[in-house]
Amino acid sequence: MSDIAGHGRSQSTPIYNRQSDPCLGPVVATAEDLERRVAELGAEITKDYAGRVPLLVGVLKGACFFLADLARAIELPVEVDFMAVSSYGNSTQTSGVVRIVKDLDADLNGRHVLIVEDIVDSGLTLSYLRRNLAARHPASLEVVALFVKRGLQSVDLDLAYQGFEIPPDFVVGYGLDVSERYRNLPYLATYVER
Ligand code: IMP
Repeated sequence: MSDIAGHGRSQSTPIYNRQSDPCLGPVVATAEDLERRVAELGAEITKDYAGRVPLLVGVLKGACFFLADLARAIELPVEVDFMAVSSYGNSTQTSGVVRIVKDLDADLNGRHVLIVEDIVDSGLTLSYLRRNLAARHPASLEVVALFVKRGLQSVDLDLAYQGFEIPPDFVVGYGLDVSERYRNLPYLATYVER
């Protein structure tokens, strides 16, 4: 039986050891940075959506970590739904041509939809998603993106909420992976291929 008060994972005992994993580079956002920013985003969304029930749409798999924390930082009734997409690009670059692998369960007609994105790189995936969901007649459609890579987007992103602007390096943790690993890292770190 675990003690609730002592249940949190301490910052000093990371689950991946940066000393022993040569692929983990500098920390870009600590667990404390993430907790603070997600709380701020939740407060902003709470204020902006007062009197409405936002439908949070997460893009699997990366965004489900952020979505789970964000939903708990919003002091309103919310609903959540997920979709999965696969890009036709290679592993490090998206092409903007996206295939829906798992569609939403919810009907978006008349709903206040908030797309919850983990990271925006080229912005092409998000741009496709926004067009696709807009065609389903939501009452409103906005985007919250936790990380936006600086200077890489050729399309206008029009993000209502943005967590952090980060350097254009490949990063892992807090939902972001390399071959499905590192998603459970409680902070965001640069990934260095070795
Ligand atoms: P975009 O279409 O180029 O903006 O790519 C967006 C998607 O690529 C994200 O939802 C992630 O799944 C993935 N991605 C982009 N950059 C990174 C990264 O640094 N680490 C892990 N996944 C990334």
